[in-house]
Amino acid sequence: MIIVIDGPAGSGKSSTARAIANRLNIEYLDSGALYRAATLIYLEADCDKEAFFNLLDKKDISFYYRNQLFHIAIDGKSVTDDIRTEAVAENVSEVAAMPDVRAFVNELMREVVKDGAYIAEGRDLGTAVFPNAELKFYMWADLDERARRRFDERKDKNPDLTFRQVKESIARRDQKDEKRETDPLKKAEDAIEIDTTGLTFEQQVDQICLEVKQRIEF
Ligand code: CDP
Repeated sequence: MIIVIDGPAGSGKSSTARAIANRLNIEYLDSGALYRAATLIYLEADCDKEAFFNLLDKKDISFYYRNQLFHIAIDGKSVTDDIRTEAVAENVSEVAAMPDVRAFVNELMREVVKDGAYIAEGRDLGTAVFPNAELKFYMWADLDERARRRFDERKDKNPDLTFRQVKESIARRDQKDEKRETDPLKKAEDAIEIDTTGLTFEQQVDQICLEVKQRIEF
């Protein structure tokens, strides 16, 4: 069983999906984290595509969800924190636009969800990766609100960061995610749209949980 949430950066997908996973006692899958891990490998290869694909072939990417955190490791070494740097954020949409990378990540995800009940979040899960998902959501919020949320999340760890930088970075990423040729960010026709502008975290979790409970029997 799989429920998917797609939407742009900062729309609240990841915190909401984790809260729902906890309430419903199901597994959580963060597809963006897999693209971020691939991006770490791309940076390790000094952004050289050939070297990158050689490395990607050899690396073992493993992941699991525990204690509210999506843990991810490359060759057994945790990169759970390393994938959240600004350098990764700046490069991830370029890496995620590469069709071979998408095929690689999709394969990892399809394999893992064969067993168990999952809520997964990303950009193209309802359209390309899991077109037959039991339930699909598309979450969004206006750019200022999304940038403000992301800025509030990051500013303590990164005191030099400004709101403007965050807003521009998110806008650039949205643009690349929406315009890429392979599986762009798009609402699936049968997805339920949730506009989280002005909603509190509790409200957005309640709204999605209600829809899930009305439509899926556990
Ligand atoms: O958490 P945030 O919304 O900032 O991003 P993320 O979910 O960690 O995803 C990082 C990036 O991975 C996105 O900007 C996309 O470029 C890419 N991505 C994708 O292309 N397809 C997915 N299913 C998930 C993420």
